[in-house]
Amino acid sequence: MKKINYSILALLGLVMVFTGCNDSGKKSSNGALSSNNAEKVYVAPGEQDEFYAFMSGGYSGNLTVYGLPSGRMFKEIPVFSQFPTSGYGYSEETKPMLNTSFGFVPWDDSHHPDISQTNGELDGRWIFINGNNTPRIARISLKTFETEEIIELPNSAGNHSSSFITENTEYVVAGTRFSVPVPQRDMPINEYKGNFKGALSFVSVDPEDGRLDLKFQIMMPGFNYDLSHPGRGKSHGWFFFTTYNTEEANSLLEVNASQNDKDFIAAINWKKIEEYVNNGGGTKMPANYAHNVYDEGTHTATSTMKKEVLTVDPTKVPGAVYFLPTPKSPHGCDVDPSGNYIIGNGKLSADLTVHSFDRMLAAIEGKKFDGEAYGIPILKFEDVLAGTVKSGGLGPLHTEFDGKGNAYTTFFISSEVVKWKLGTWEVIDRKPTYYSVGHLMIPGGNSAKPFGKYVVAMNKITKDRYLPTGPELEHSAQLYDITGDKMELIYDFPTHGEPHYAAGIPAEILAPKSQKIYKLAENKHPMATLGVNDARVERKGNEVHVYMAMIRSHFTPDNIEGIKVGDKVYFHITNHEQDFDVPHGFAMIGANNSELLIMPGQTKSLVWEPKEVGVWPFYCTDFCSALHQEMQGYVRVSPANSNIDLSWSLGE
Ligand code: CUA
Repeated sequence: MKKINYSILALLGLVMVFTGCNDSGKKSSNGALSSNNAEKVYVAPGEQDEFYAFMSGGYSGNLTVYGLPSGRMFKEIPVFSQFPTSGYGYSEETKPMLNTSFGFVPWDDSHHPDISQTNGELDGRWIFINGNNTPRIARISLKTFETEEIIELPNSAGNHSSSFITENTEYVVAGTRFSVPVPQRDMPINEYKGNFKGALSFVSVDPEDGRLDLKFQIMMPGFNYDLSHPGRGKSHGWFFFTTYNTEEANSLLEVNASQNDKDFIAAINWKKIEEYVNNGGGTKMPANYAHNVYDEGTHTATSTMKKEVLTVDPTKVPGAVYFLPTPKSPHGCDVDPSGNYIIGNGKLSADLTVHSFDRMLAAIEGKKFDGEAYGIPILKFEDVLAGTVKSGGLGPLHTEFDGKGNAYTTFFISSEVVKWKLGTWEVIDRKPTYYSVGHLMIPGGNSAKPFGKYVVAMNKITKDRYLPTGPELEHSAQLYDITGDKMELIYDFPTHGEPHYAAGIPAEILAPKSQKIYKLAENKHPMATLGVNDARVERKGNEVHVYMAMIRSHFTPDNIEGIKVGDKVYFHITNHEQDFDVPHGFAMIGANNSELLIMPGQTKSLVWEPKEVGVWPFYCTDFCSALHQEMQGYVRVSPANSNIDLSWSLGE
């Protein structure tokens, strides 16, 4: 019977595809959109959006910033990937940000952003995002919109259940998707079962400056830890992780990891474990992981290799870890604003499983266990179940909340968002997505206080939604108005990379705090040129350091002689502007990196190794004034054995 329903849905999907095709190229007032919806998303020229939406870039490694409801993209914030637009990862100051135990890794797969909270509400100080491939967590300032810190996670692989934060931003959490040998060693792959470990990392966040520190890792059985969310309110102090592959298969997981009728949600009492480690519990083990910090005063990052990590065996801390049986390889693990309901979306199931935190505590109290796994007690499914949502959809993935007692779940296979009621579990509404939705986002949806005005569906497949751009299409988002009983599709917009989740926040929280310039007087960069009289060129053996200033519309100096083939030339350039939105750029012919984009009051450095004699130009890359094209200069490069003295000038 269910199968028939799905094929009907699939058929409906096809019908929608064809309707979409017929409508392309003209504004229609029929189909999914009614005419007054245009007004709901129209942000008139000069007006501003109501919300910021931060969307993960997926395989772009970055984080993109959009406005809601307009869907306009404001910025791409470089995080784990080199970004020539600003010189991030190319400039001498930012290269250390991408250092890891594997060396320089200039790319990652960024998945789940989460905004810092105080008392369970968004405070808008920082946003965190995980690197999935080479396990890392980044902290980005929501004042400068710059990546300020990246910490690598040892003993982890495929850092997927990350980077979710606790309700006072005590911790940002990372669970390993792939279990691995800990410590890493040469061993047969088919000896995985019982030998690999799954590390759940708790990274503490300094309440003042946000500094990250890997406080402890819980060494769990070798399952796949897929997604996670913090408890809040009554369940504050707990963290919940979905698992799959509790079969511990090491090959053909699509079959072998789908054998068990139920996998688990792991419930972690992190407060109990924190107390245990604060009292000297846990085992220090050797490790090697990078901790990279960008200093706002010096505009420079440093990378430190850490050599030790504190690990916790969960069986040594009674009452700290339990398993909640959850049907069919659950993916999303979402906690409602009250903190009582934990939703596990079995991606091979039609129904949603909702666990009750209250019932979980009662079951623990009553010691009603259904066996154990590697010494960790398994609670009885019936004892922790709050309810089941008979969704009628297929392939549930993620759930968000509107703060008015409703939940919204995405269904990848049946390509829809389903609205249902917490407590009664009844389905209230369902709307199609175009197509195959993954995550969804309500601003503040992962907090005690969501702003339930819009939901954004982030779709994996785009097909015919926009003008075709060859085989590669940007992913597609859909915006729904959720202020009424029924969701209303009001807008479609393309998104960059592959957004795996997003975090939204009212603009009024962030916009007033957004930094406009860096004050030149506060520039602590050791290579800064704070006055034009300090501009100079210095030689130290084969290294040449150019201390350069820039202001509309010239460089000081703009003529440099005495450079030789084989030199390593460092341009340390300070932008003397103190006006909002007047950056200058710097590009050097043949440099094996990128340009620099230097904000007002900021210093950045670019290295250039001239390979041939000649007179080589450099120029400003950012259209800064009417005389931007005049903002240029020359470097004379002489043979390696030349005797020409170093000299520099402007206007001579
Ligand atoms: Cu400075 Cu263009």
